[in-house]
Amino acid sequence: KTLRQAYQDAFYIGTALNRFQIEESDSVMAEIVGKEFSSITAENMMKSMHIHPKRDTFNFEMADKFVALGEKYDMFVHGHTLVWHSQLSPWFGTIEDSLEFADATEKHIKDIASKYKGKIDSWDVVNEALNEDGSLRNSIFLQKMGEDYLASAFKWAAEADNGADLYYNDYNMTNPEKRQGAIAMVKNILDQGVKVDGIGMQGHWHLNSPSLEEIEQSILDYSALGVKVAITELDVSVLPNPWDLEGAEISQNFENSEGMNPYKDGLPDSIQVKLANRYKDIFSLFLKHKDKISRVTFWGVSDGQSWLNGFPIRGRTNYPLLFDRDLKPKAAYDSIMALK
Ligand code: XIL
Repeated sequence: KTLRQAYQDAFYIGTALNRFQIEESDSVMAEIVGKEFSSITAENMMKSMHIHPKRDTFNFEMADKFVALGEKYDMFVHGHTLVWHSQLSPWFGTIEDSLEFADATEKHIKDIASKYKGKIDSWDVVNEALNEDGSLRNSIFLQKMGEDYLASAFKWAAEADNGADLYYNDYNMTNPEKRQGAIAMVKNILDQGVKVDGIGMQGHWHLNSPSLEEIEQSILDYSALGVKVAITELDVSVLPNPWDLEGAEISQNFENSEGMNPYKDGLPDSIQVKLANRYKDIFSLFLKHKDKISRVTFWGVSDGQSWLNGFPIRGRTNYPLLFDRDLKPKAAYDSIMALK
């Protein structure tokens, strides 16, 4: 049995794919992707800087290949992301006039969503609009368009493709203050008669945090809004979290910090077991709430390709995913298979 088959009756099991993985589409990687996963997310190629590099130029080449791969393996295909302040195409920042900025944003959303109408099953319409205290992030979208940009973005996406599920997606969504902010924000959009189909909790988690209680409470609170809940970017870092360092947010100069890359020569068995147990606990919880969860997507296939080797410190050796650097399934894989 594969992961995809094992979880078929529960929720979609997805992975993020980057350009490299798609271009090697006849490799071992492609075989793993097709067999083990039932959903894919575009890790980078649908972000505005890649798909819409100039105001009047789109680059759909990689995104088309991504969508084609999903069709080939009969997968649920998720688009990431229409409105995001990061990896934002530079031309957005050159527009002075706010009405013109709003028009350009509308066109950006509609051009992309309508191009993939019927091919993209769900979209992250807005990504990371919130601060940790639950207030709205002071992004270029907020500055230019005011808080209406949120409802507008969802409205425009629905106008372009009313069949796709439309998501709000963010990290640290288990943090109580941010959770309250997300709930208020989504409620506000729904109250305007604009549809939001789901909330994505990114799931960039650690061995000990967030707690299972916080994760469970978040799943319950979000789904109480009447929307679907997805775990959208799951990976569990086994490395020390530099944000825990004293003064981290002030300096952000982690590169020279001592002890930040402890497993560069391999992961000790004890930590391998800890990771497997953490995944087992998390997935037990997901299965308990499978009626509320639409999809659980890992942020990559193998440890060697994970963004966590480069974030928030460059050049570390992390082990956050289900497959190791030789594309072999890890103890974490076995532990979530054993639940089914
Ligand atoms: C990351 C990708 O994994 C990296 O390859 C890229 O260099 C930066 O972005 N939140 C998101 C994702 O919504 O788009 C980010 O993906 C990780 C954090």
